Amino acid sequence: MNIFVIGATGFVGGGLARHLSAESHAVTGLARTETAAATLDSQGITPVVGDLEERRPAVIKAAQTADAVVYAAQADPEQEIATVQDLTRALTGTDKSLIFLSGNGVLIQRTAGAWSPDVFAEDDPFTPEPLAGFRKAAEDTVLAAARDGLRAMVIRPGLIWGPGDHGHVSMVYRSVAVTGSACYIGQGLNTYSHVHIDDVTRLFSLALEGGRPGGLYHAVAGETPTRWIAERVAADLGVKARSLTPQEATGVWGEFGALIMAVSGRIRAVRAQQDLGWQPRHTDMLTMIGEERLRRLAIPAV
Ligand SMILES: NC(=O)c1ccc[n+]([C@@H]2O[C@H](COP(=O)([O-])OP(=O)(O)OC[C@H]3O[C@@H](n4cnc5c(N)ncnc54)[C@H](OP(=O)(O)O)[C@@H]3O)[C@@H](O)[C@H]2O)c1
Repeated sequence: MNIFVIGATGFVGGGLARHLSAESHAVTGLARTETAAATLDSQGITPVVGDLEERRPAVIKAAQTADAVVYAAQADPEQEIATVQDLTRALTGTDKSLIFLSGNGVLIQRTAGAWSPDVFAEDDPFTPEPLAGFRKAAEDTVLAAARDGLRAMVIRPGLIWGPGDHGHVSMVYRSVAVTGSACYIGQGLNTYSHVHIDDVTRLFSLALEGGRPGGLYHAVAGETPTRWIAERVAADLGVKARSLTPQEATGVWGEFGALIMAVSGRIRAVRAQQDLGWQPRHTDMLTMIGEERLRRLAIPAV
């Protein structure tokens, strides 16, 4: 299959492009610079130079020549929704595959570090997080396009971990560089679902092979309260774990980081397992504790 990955230079899109290439698909990937294009080329991924701003027409043209398109970029909200609209319009009636990478960010609950018993499968109703309204609109646009002759699907993972990630564990290590302690917010019982990058890329392959038009698939293999992460990082570095107020957390992680570290985002992957036979193989995110690349994040900048 000829597959075009938008976001092929990123953590998730890059892992996906390399995985699909290793599966002998012909993979093209979006590159915003000549340097990025050369890197993709060296990985056996054919670069398409463009972006989701002025050079979006090049992206849509590349999408039209592919058998399948994956959107895995992290662009500005206006660019994301405009790109999804352009893609669905351009691919309508072609029966090609379009998979949009979303995330459990659409359904997070602002608990300020408290536990939430709520956990959402694909068909469960939820109140969308206001900041992710654009993302929910993009999901809806993609899924609606399945009625117009497009094999359009959405994959909604929890936090994705693995080599090169930049999620909760790395954020806790970074908090040590700033405060001297491994930090969480409030009680630290807020819990975020997670899944390994290799399990996510396998789910994309299964969806490309057998996913149904209009399919929404959650991807999750485990979940860990934020305080457990902080306690394990503290033990790894020989420092204390410490609770922050939301205000203190903003000083450590910035406004968006503090929001993410304080919310609950629990999902279940029912359809991915039942409809596609997906089984995650990596269930314990805390196996990454102690990696040298993470320990380096705990060293204060000079
Ligand atoms: N990481 C996670 O744990 C996780 C979990 C669930 C969902 N997701 C979703 O997955 C997506 C990718 O996340 P990520 O962690 O892989 O992010 P990332 O590593 O920051 O990669 C972002 C990608 O988007 C590209 N990009 C950004 N702005 C662009 C633009 N204007 N035009 C073209 N390309 C642009 C980047 O290109 P450059 O390399 O040129 O900057 C890069 O390829 C996001 O939508 C995120 O919400 C991520």
